[in-house]
Amino acid sequence: MWKKILGSLLLLVIAVVGGGLAYLHFKPVNMRAASGITIERTPERLARGNYLFNHLTGCVDCHSPVDEKRFGYPVIPGSQGKGKVVIPGPGMPGTIVAPNITPDPETGAGRWTDGQLLRAIREGIGHDGRVLFPMMPYTEFRNLSDEDVYSIIAYMRTLPQASSSLPATTVKFPVNLFIKSAPSPVDSVPQPNRADRVAWGRYLTTIGGCKFCHSPVENDGSPVKGKEFSGGHVFELAPGARAVTPNLTPDRETGTGTWSESEWLEKFTQYKDYAANGSPVVEPNMNTAMPWLIFSNLDPDDLRAIFAYLRTVPAVKNAVVTHPDAPEEKRAREQGAK
Ligand code: HEC
Ligand code: HEC
Repeated sequence: MWKKILGSLLLLVIAVVGGGLAYLHFKPVNMRAASGITIERTPERLARGNYLFNHLTGCVDCHSPVDEKRFGYPVIPGSQGKGKVVIPGPGMPGTIVAPNITPDPETGAGRWTDGQLLRAIREGIGHDGRVLFPMMPYTEFRNLSDEDVYSIIAYMRTLPQASSSLPATTVKFPVNLFIKSAPSPVDSVPQPNRADRVAWGRYLTTIGGCKFCHSPVENDGSPVKGKEFSGGHVFELAPGARAVTPNLTPDRETGTGTWSESEWLEKFTQYKDYAANGSPVVEPNMNTAMPWLIFSNLDPDDLRAIFAYLRTVPAVKNAVVTHPDAPEEKRAREQGAK
């Protein structure tokens, strides 16, 4: 009897999943043609774009080769924007390549239009009309204001041209079907008011990826509702080397509730020396997914706004061990098991 119920349930599941995949296969992607926009390169935009690309929005970390052995994965000097095959970690559904986005006309973005770049960054459609794998965080970048995304594009055009041919991204079945629902068109996004510290801080935590990395996530990658910023998002840096995000909510025991603003600032600025003079070689289990090197030079005014915003999010109790595979954590676990 139980076997039968189980059997028919399984059939039902297969029918539903199969039907779902067939549905996704035929489901149209929510996309539109790239606009014919021409983005003017003003000195203000180049300065702002430099700050976003190389610091807050982390484009440089994903789109450049990095030194895997050193703390914080520093970008190899002179290779900004040159692209790389994203290391196929366990469970990587295919070959994911962060492309060369320097203005090289043959192997980079030199022939892609401003409209194509705009659509790729905020709407998730590549220059060739392909659905982008959402590791490119367009689901967050869709919140970039018009002025900020124009600044990023203006700046990208000034990167040194680098010739670097990379393979094309291939996404395996069925993930290639699931990602079809990620893109969507974005209309005009106004710049939040910088004088409103909380609103400005909220904006920065979205485009800076803080919310994405510091929240537990659902299967589709969206933060678990009500648990935003409570940490626990696991990053597998190498086999057997995990980094887990800490709780940034104002909980006084497990979060940042007792931190002062100057302690908060110090967390970031302590890495300035590594950013300027190079960071040390570390074991993978002591490395980090936190972009400390590029974040050490965030504008203190932005860091204060982020801190002000984080004071307003609901406190969630969630104690996190950030380096569970570090030697002392392993030792502590072994001793606990005895
Ligand atoms: C977490 C890593 C990550 C970050 C951060 C990131 N990208 Fe990407 N980006 C990727 C990957 C991976 C792809 C390729 C996706 C694919 O091929 O399906 C991509 C694709 C792109 C493309 C599309 C190229 C095309 O084919 O048209 C552009 C343009 C781009 N990124 C620009 C940026 C800019 C600008 C930023 C910062 C605002 C940025 N990326 C931040 C990983 C990242
Ligand atoms: C790519 C993922 C990622 C992004 C993006 C990210 N973080 Fe982190 N963060 C981590 C991880 C993993 C750790 C734990 C390891 C460590 O401390 O190096 C961490 C640690 C921290 C800590 C240290 C807390 C402590 O107890 O010492 C702070 C503060 C922090 N992040 C704030 C931020 C802010 C603010 C942003 C956005 C501007 C941000 N993070 C974006 C992954 C991320």
